[in-house]
Amino acid sequence: MKKTSVINPGMKMAEVVHIDYTLLPVINRFGISLGFGDETIEQICRMYHINMDFFLEILNTFHDPDYFPEENLKKYPIGLLIDYLKKTHSYYLEVKVPELEKLITGMIDDPKQERQKHKLMNEFFAHYKKELTDHILREEDKVYPYILDLEKTVKEKNCSDEMKKRLNRYSIDHFPDEHDDVEEKLLDLKNIIIKYLPPPIDANRCNAILYMLFELEKDLNDHARIEDTIMVPMVADLEKQYEKMIKA
Ligand SMILES: [Fe+2]
Ligand SMILES: [Fe+2]
Repeated sequence: MKKTSVINPGMKMAEVVHIDYTLLPVINRFGISLGFGDETIEQICRMYHINMDFFLEILNTFHDPDYFPEENLKKYPIGLLIDYLKKTHSYYLEVKVPELEKLITGMIDDPKQERQKHKLMNEFFAHYKKELTDHILREEDKVYPYILDLEKTVKEKNCSDEMKKRLNRYSIDHFPDEHDDVEEKLLDLKNIIIKYLPPPIDANRCNAILYMLFELEKDLNDHARIEDTIMVPMVADLEKQYEKMIKA
């Protein structure tokens, strides 16, 4: 059974951060900056012209892994969701990955560290970065454009032959199978640090890398859950509307 959502419109934004500080990057992705004062979520959404239902769905989904927002799916356009997902991708590739890369490459230049194992970690991270980038590019080049085309077609109730051809090339049914687990692969990287790095190690640097990896893992997990539990059913519904439309 669906739990009542913890984060609600009358709650103060500052309180949200005290309850779950991992929501900070999520809040930032909506363009909301710190310095909330005593404003509630409702007031802040009005101030920033943000669709509050959508904002609450995303915050609650990130905050509570058991939260399943099915009932509220149709309250907002899917374009909003795709825009949010793209912002999250940029956060991974433009903020988190470079931060981690800097800390990891820094280990190799550190004379105290045993070079061989750190080189291995560096290679591992480079490999991970490529996998994450490929995952993101596949979504941004193939899946998201398909969804936006589908939404436009259903909304305008008009489909050219060219668009029909484009829409026939993909179906959201394929998404669960091709959606690989990029977050799981972070486990190996964490284990290299937790289990195999030899002393003497720069403990502070290693802890900083580990904290970042745990944080990235949580964020990636929540992001994938949003794609699987919010995006896929929304697109499946659009596909049904599209089928009906072209049969009519
Ligand atoms: Fe994604
Ligand atoms: Fe994904």
